[in-house]
Amino acid sequence: MLKVLTVIGARPQFIKACMLSNAFSSESNIQEIIVHTGQHYDENMSNVFLKQLKLPNPHYFLGTGSDTHGKQTAKMLLKLEDIIISEKPDIVLVYGDTNSTLAGSLAASKLHIPIAHVEAGLRSYNKKMPEEINRVLTDHLSTWLFCPSNTAVKNLENEGITQGVYQTGDIMYDAVLYYKDVALQKSNILSDLKIAPKNYYLATVHRAENTDNPQRLTAILEAFRQINETVLFPLHPRTKNKIKHWNLENLISSSNIKIVEPLDYFDMLAVESQAGIILTDSGGVQKEAYMLGVPCITLRDETEWIETVNSGWNHLTGADMEKILEAARKISVPKAHTPLFGDGETSKSICKSLMKFNKTI
Ligand code: UD1
Ligand code: UDP
Repeated sequence: MLKVLTVIGARPQFIKACMLSNAFSSESNIQEIIVHTGQHYDENMSNVFLKQLKLPNPHYFLGTGSDTHGKQTAKMLLKLEDIIISEKPDIVLVYGDTNSTLAGSLAASKLHIPIAHVEAGLRSYNKKMPEEINRVLTDHLSTWLFCPSNTAVKNLENEGITQGVYQTGDIMYDAVLYYKDVALQKSNILSDLKIAPKNYYLATVHRAENTDNPQRLTAILEAFRQINETVLFPLHPRTKNKIKHWNLENLISSSNIKIVEPLDYFDMLAVESQAGIILTDSGGVQKEAYMLGVPCITLRDETEWIETVNSGWNHLTGADMEKILEAARKISVPKAHTPLFGDGETSKSICKSLMKFNKTI
């Protein structure tokens, strides 16, 4: 029996984990222990995904909550160490690049437990991003590095990591393919909000580099206000707090901006797939825009998902109001749409690789 201890804690990790945890559940010789760090804790940032995506109930809930990076990561580390010591897993599995990812990989590496990193090899080459630190450190500690793209494999190669690297495709694509039609059937969000398909833009903003800098946040919100379209804007709690903190409420009170609470996954897939354009600084949302065939404007200076830019579907504008407005005016739907993120069988392929692990080595 292979015992895998999975650490999750932030919204995108619940979505990334759902397909793989379900793949583990159907393997009789894998036992998965799920630890939820509690980095995200609001109902609509956490539980709603666990329920909707039928994730097995976490065995441990650490209740970490929000704090500065050091304190948040340290609180997780303290508790994870005890759990790993008592559970004695064969593998610790982490997703993406959040503080929960780093805490999981640090705790495991100090206890000599091999680490599997799903969504390995991504780089922005911007060390001011907390995510860049988390992913570089996690990759350098990992035994299995499951890469979503060729670029990710090359990035690792450039850092001398070639062992244990698997190009598996993107685990979020598994979830998009599995849930897309169900989401469109089950979600009533567009009729509830009285907006018509393709008659609105969808926006999400939550990156620290945008929310914690009043000039950048102002430029982004000002662009939304000046865009000649309805902008549906599900507000991440961090952004909600920062808009208040920087006194920018007036910018989102414009009649073309529809603010809603963070959406559940089905509503999100429904609004993404039917949007005219998506404007975002989210990693996951940039990819989903491509997967769902919707042109995207990325409100960042660089992106880890460079293939989406090279294919003409994604446009990098940074937080420059003029560039955002110009991109929105000029954007068109490219003719070609090649598969960039695998075949939707990423979770099966990860599961297979892990099952080959020989515990006696
Ligand atoms: C975190 C990740 C980021 C990821 C994002 C996904 C890190 C360093 N950042 O950013 O990589 O893209 O999650 O959404 O790990 N808050 C609430 N309720 C919640 C969660 C957060 O109110 O359930 C508020 C708190 O004020 C908190 C702030 O949001 O201080 C930021 O939360 P935090 O988890 O620290 O970072 P995110 O910006 O969510
Ligand atoms: N998402 C969601 N509801 C929302 C916003 C995002 O379900 O209101 C989903 C989105 O579809 C994607 C994931 O959350 O699957 C992306 O997470 P987020 O943008 O928080 O983080 P990132 O991907 O940037 O780390």
